[in-house]
Amino acid sequence: MRALEEKIRQDGQVLPGNVLKVDNFLNHQIDPQLMFAIGQEFQRLFADKPITKILTVESSGIAPAVMAGLAMKVPVVFARKHKSLTLKDDLYTATVYSYTKKTSNQISISRKFLDANDHVLIIDDFLANGQAVEGLMAIIAAADATLEGVGIVIEKSFQKGRQLLDEKGIQTESLARIKAFADGQVVFA
Ligand code: G4P
Ligand code: NA
Ligand code: NA
Repeated sequence: MRALEEKIRQDGQVLPGNVLKVDNFLNHQIDPQLMFAIGQEFQRLFADKPITKILTVESSGIAPAVMAGLAMKVPVVFARKHKSLTLKDDLYTATVYSYTKKTSNQISISRKFLDANDHVLIIDDFLANGQAVEGLMAIIAAADATLEGVGIVIEKSFQKGRQLLDEKGIQTESLARIKAFADGQVVFA
């Protein structure tokens, strides 16, 4: 997606440890117009799939997921990382390990928002090692729902996530694919 790549080139900052900082349009401040276009692009890429629901993880997956839900006219559910006052029982839960942070987190979705009739599109902001997507896939399997595909805003193709999803035969559409970081610059695939 050209507009997204341009935005990454203009505003992205390459940090040590192969991390791209994009907090002025995706991870902290959000660019609604760009996010709207991102939602439309996901709708176009998955137009032939009978999607009934979008799943993501809080917090940074929510903006692109909601815009995709708007374009596709389906509800959006975000997995929570923390127990909430109102989210206590009847949960699907998965453990997500972060290689970046070296910590494990539980993610949870209420059972009332996902069932065997659902055809699910997973949306997330970044695809790195794919652990967040795997956690959502475990929840989709536990609900006997059907995974139709994965939509990613920014993929770091040199990390394990892309290969992992390809090996499972999942349609994975990333709107920007980063092949490498070289001398503080982003190299797109
Ligand atoms: P994985 O799910 O692909 O295995 O990701 P990993 O554990 O490596 O990443 C942990 C967190 O860091 C995730 O956000 C992920 O989206 C984010 N992340 C990974 N690589 C990058 C990067 O290059 N740049 C930025 N900005 N983020 C990256 P999270 O902890 O779930 O946080 P949030 O959704 O609340 O923002
Ligand atoms: Na994320
Ligand atoms: Na993030």
